[in-house]
Amino acid sequence: MNPATRLSLLKPSPIRAITDGTPPGAIPLGLGEPTWDLPEVARKALLREPGPCAYVPHAGLTELRRAVGSFHGAHLDEVLITTGSQGALFALFQAWVNPGSKVLVPDPGFVAYPALAHMAGAVPVPYSLSADRFRLDADALVAVLEATPDVSVVILNLPSNPTGGGGSLEALRRVAEACTARGVLLISDEVYRDLHFGLRSPSLRDVTDRGVVTSSVSKGWGAPGLRVGWAVGDPAWLVPARVVHGYAVTGTATPAQWAALALIEHSETVLAEARAAVQLRWEALAAALKVELGQVVSPPDGTFYHFMPLPPSAQVDPLAFALKLRDEAKVVLIPGLAFGEGGRGHARLSFAATPEQLCEGVRRLAPYWND
Ligand SMILES: Cc1ncc(COP(=O)(O)O)c(C=O)c1O
Repeated sequence: MNPATRLSLLKPSPIRAITDGTPPGAIPLGLGEPTWDLPEVARKALLREPGPCAYVPHAGLTELRRAVGSFHGAHLDEVLITTGSQGALFALFQAWVNPGSKVLVPDPGFVAYPALAHMAGAVPVPYSLSADRFRLDADALVAVLEATPDVSVVILNLPSNPTGGGGSLEALRRVAEACTARGVLLISDEVYRDLHFGLRSPSLRDVTDRGVVTSSVSKGWGAPGLRVGWAVGDPAWLVPARVVHGYAVTGTATPAQWAALALIEHSETVLAEARAAVQLRWEALAAALKVELGQVVSPPDGTFYHFMPLPPSAQVDPLAFALKLRDEAKVVLIPGLAFGEGGRGHARLSFAATPEQLCEGVRRLAPYWND
């Protein structure tokens, strides 16, 4: 049996190669998900509905669309609720990416972007991030856009998985103008925007309402298992995506949408608590890196990822190095190479883990950095 040919371009994720086969007792600093409890308001809301558990409109529960809209400064008809932000990306790609067209993706960047492009029959084309902390580099991106014929979508991710780098309002504006001038769909993936360390990265919506922002309750609101996300933007982009999402999954689970509504209605406290949890973890990590490795680090622009330079000897074969860390030191890190060639010299360390795990994890890593 042969699966559809368009899947032949999907490469197995090197992240799986690392995380599958994690030995017992290993410290998981690879996972990109919150380790703190689901906020109580969401837990209560999951049980709120007596009677039938009914379908809701394909675009999502109206109350939730309204709440998401007001969070992003958008009207109801500019909001589509999806199954995670991943559901939004999938639907947008299926709706707007023609086979053979090009999709501009950050390198290093979230592993799903090239995969989604391949599943739409398109070719992912990488653009690089700034040498200074892997932020959005508008010159680099616009140069690739100008040099590449038949671009259907450009995707931004501020702050970035895996680098934690953000970008300036000016850089966003330049990219938005370049995409609008060419009629290219600009998607800004902002799932980590509310997990910042004092300064929130700008949103695409600060410079234009003509692109599409995707986000979800998975990171800042601490609820990846609810699988509630959204796309916010020009309804002209959203309507075909709604059709795709409707045929793919009909709609997102109704109780999960009520829980997401409760989280968004309590954003002020829920997001502040999440930021406090992340700050605590960052401080534990920074202190451990200083004591064990003699490294002085500053926090990312957002996310719970520290993009950690590898020792030079590890850069020849970062995957082998990560496997050695996993099996010998018993610490799971994701090699930056998993996110593109631009990540070769780094590893992604997720500090969503508990402070105790972070301290012990860095202690175990030290001999491999200090030798
Ligand atoms: C950059 C980025 N975008 C999107 C997603 C998808 O998240 P979700 O579908 O849970 O919203 C992730 C998940 O790790 C991510 O890191």
